[in-house]
Amino acid sequence: MSVYQALIYFILILSSIYAFIIGIDGPLLHQEALEDDNTTLYCDTTSGISEDELTLLVWYKGDESIYSYDARSNDEWSSLTFNISGRLSIDISKRPTPLYIRSLRADDEALYHCRVEFLLTPTRYTGINLTVIGRPPPHISWYNGEVLVDASGSESDIPNVRQNELYLPLTRDTNRITCKATNTVLSAPISSYVDIELYLSASNVTIHWLKDIQSNTLQAGNTYVVKCTAYEVYPSPDIAWWLNHKHLTQYSNQTWNHITKTAESYLQLSPTMKDDRATLACVTTNPAMPPGKNSKADVITLNVTYVPIVEVSTVESGKLNGVIENDTFRLICDVKANPRADRFMWYFNNTNIDENQDWQEYVFGNMLIIKKAFRKHTGQYSCIAKNSIGEGEAEGINITVLYAPECTNNGVSLINEVITCHVRSVPDPNSFTWYIRTDSQFEELTTKSPSVSLSIVTISLTKTANITCGAKNGIAKQQKPCTKIISFKHLRPKTPRQCDLSYESNQFQIHCIPVENATHYEITVWRMSTSNASLILNHKSAMGFDAQALTRNADEVWRVGGQLGTLSEGDEAGATACNRYGCSEILLLRPTEKLLNAAKLPWWYFFLDKDVGIIVGGVLLVVLFVMSTAIAVCAVRRSRVKQPVPVIQVVEIDDLTREILNSTRDLKVRSSCSLRSRNSDYLETEEVGLTQWRHLPVILDPPPPDVTLTRHRESPV
Ligand SMILES: *[C@@H]1O[C@H](CO)[C@@H](O)[C@H](O)[C@H]1NC(C)=O
Ligand SMILES: *[C@@H]1O[C@H](CO)[C@@H](O)[C@H](O)[C@H]1NC(C)=O
Ligand SMILES: *[C@@H]1O[C@H](CO)[C@@H](O)[C@H](O)[C@H]1NC(C)=O
Ligand SMILES: *[C@@H]1O[C@H](CO)[C@@H](O)[C@H](O)[C@H]1NC(C)=O
Ligand SMILES: *[C@@H]1O[C@H](CO)[C@@H](O)[C@H](O)[C@H]1NC(C)=O
Ligand SMILES: *[C@@H]1O[C@H](CO)[C@@H](O)[C@H](O)[C@H]1NC(C)=O
Ligand SMILES: *[C@@H]1O[C@H](CO)[C@@H](O)[C@H](O)[C@H]1NC(C)=O
Ligand SMILES: *[C@@H]1O[C@H](CO)[C@@H](O)[C@H](O)[C@H]1NC(C)=O
Repeated sequence: MSVYQALIYFILILSSIYAFIIGIDGPLLHQEALEDDNTTLYCDTTSGISEDELTLLVWYKGDESIYSYDARSNDEWSSLTFNISGRLSIDISKRPTPLYIRSLRADDEALYHCRVEFLLTPTRYTGINLTVIGRPPPHISWYNGEVLVDASGSESDIPNVRQNELYLPLTRDTNRITCKATNTVLSAPISSYVDIELYLSASNVTIHWLKDIQSNTLQAGNTYVVKCTAYEVYPSPDIAWWLNHKHLTQYSNQTWNHITKTAESYLQLSPTMKDDRATLACVTTNPAMPPGKNSKADVITLNVTYVPIVEVSTVESGKLNGVIENDTFRLICDVKANPRADRFMWYFNNTNIDENQDWQEYVFGNMLIIKKAFRKHTGQYSCIAKNSIGEGEAEGINITVLYAPECTNNGVSLINEVITCHVRSVPDPNSFTWYIRTDSQFEELTTKSPSVSLSIVTISLTKTANITCGAKNGIAKQQKPCTKIISFKHLRPKTPRQCDLSYESNQFQIHCIPVENATHYEITVWRMSTSNASLILNHKSAMGFDAQALTRNADEVWRVGGQLGTLSEGDEAGATACNRYGCSEILLLRPTEKLLNAAKLPWWYFFLDKDVGIIVGGVLLVVLFVMSTAIAVCAVRRSRVKQPVPVIQVVEIDDLTREILNSTRDLKVRSSCSLRSRNSDYLETEEVGLTQWRHLPVILDPPPPDVTLTRHRESPV
């Protein structure tokens, strides 16, 4: 130790008596430090005057100096009792100047102060109240996560132990509960934690569309993916989708994130128009929790847009969409659409009528009103409605304008034996009333069919009839009936054309081939008037069917025949075929001379007939004469007496008849009543084949044609 040092030490000893007075000498700072730890005491060694300088720095513990530094001699001194094992150090160059004290001991707790002397500046003091902290009882605090939830202190019965119980209401954000114990801020608190597994129903469930969908507006037919997110739910929940109380189990999947405690479910949805205004719900249920508080849902209402669904309907609920003529009818275009249909178009028989001038006054948006229905309004009606999605067309409905029967131009017609009433009406008539009036008779009929067979008409139809018909169709009665005067003349049979005259069994006979549709025949005998040159009806009777049938194969062909009695020269025989509509024109036949000759009586007949009474007396004489003469005559005409020659006049035999005759030749010959001929159409011709006839000794097959043709005459009847 130098002298100088000793001097300083001496000074320090002297000055150590000096005590620091808080507030007067300088400020007092408080400082804490842990036992066995280090601490640093700072001394304010700045002077504030630039040319000033530090001359002396002294540290005191209480009233004792523990360190000094003399800047002028650069001498440093430390108390050996304090600077144990060199635990004290200083960094004199720093301002403020730190004094480092290591390995603090409990008795280091004291009031320290430093004294600083400058050349110019007055002496400065700084006091530091150092507290050395040994093992204070810890302070316990509770944390939920990072949040302090309880810091109330408490004691324990066990020495040196403290314990604390936490009563914490569990909330959704409760997760890790930490207990921290500390007795000084100088060291980190010790802690312990427990992680709480808290069952949670979802705090929030939300439905989102994956695409950019505005206000849940979807278009029918498209496919969408919708996502449901359940937040803050533990453990993984069951997520169910419901569409209007219908559980959707398909096209969905579910994920779970245990860190964020978020569950997600995706649903693929293809809405239809029926789903408009339907509610879509996502319901999350936590299976770990008791029912009641375990579920949470989000519900949205779908706005499903679709193309209009259109239907045409009638306002007046007529039968079968029928409208009576002159009535009003209204059609409505019934539309279901979302959004609402804003445009309507009407079609008549597939033609748009909106622009059509004829129809313009009928169309009012979705309504079509026809105030007075005409027949032209019969047809198919349809409409189209449009909205922003598209357009929909209704199936057409057929509207029929009904009207009462009315007569067509044809009126009443007669074809064959059927009369028909020609009316038009919608619907078709269901009943016809007929009035058939002749000169003297009247008949009324009601039929369902427009045609009536004359067979059901009972009155005589030989002349014309005034036929009137009227129809009903359930709508109304025909206002003006159809009427026509009808002649039935053309329904009469044809004139017989295949007739012959013969002389048999002492009288003239006529035979004809039956005429189609004839029901009976009449024969007449016409005689030339003596006063004037006209034919006068002498005799009229019916002609019956001949007993002798001419058959050909299976078809039966009958001949009809009638007895004429006697015919004289100039007489004519007529035949006519008749039915209910009257008789045909008469075919007139004139007997040939040959036939007349054949019909002549023997000469003695004449006497016998003429005056039987007068010549009774001469009878015997005459008889003798006659007998002898007769024998001679008989010898000459033997063949004729045994087999009288029929002399037959044949008229109008056509090919068919000829064939029939040919095929039935044997029969004919035996009956001896017919001869073939080849004439036609009443042409007058010469006799042919007579020679041949004469050469034949007997009438055997084939019979010679003996043909006499007569002129046809129109009947005066
Ligand atoms: C005190 O200081 C010394 C030296 O600077 C160091 O080795 C020691 O670890 C310190 N003690 C504490 C408790 O910090
Ligand atoms: C304390 O003592 C050690 C040696 O024992 C010495 O090196 C040191 O400088 C002293 N401290 C002060 C501030 O003088
Ligand atoms: C110094 O600190 C201790 C403990 O903190 C205290 O009891 C004492 O009164 C203080 N001394 C002065 C002078 O402030
Ligand atoms: C639910 O979550 C959604 C999205 O995170 C949010 O917008 C909404 O406000 C939440 N609702 C409630 C009731 O917390
Ligand atoms: C679930 O479905 C959605 C939509 O279908 C799809 O995007 C997603 O990848 C699916 N996720 C899983 C995990 O299958
Ligand atoms: C549904 O969506 C359509 C189209 O966006 C809209 O016009 C209509 O107003 C919506 N309906 C409702 C009830 O929101
Ligand atoms: C006979 O009557 C039927 C039925 O009416 C008819 O079809 C036929 O044409 C008639 N024949 C003649 C020749 O008139
Ligand atoms: C011809 O005489 C008959 C009577 O013999 C008579 O009925 C008839 O009217 C007369 N005809 C003519 C045209 O004079």
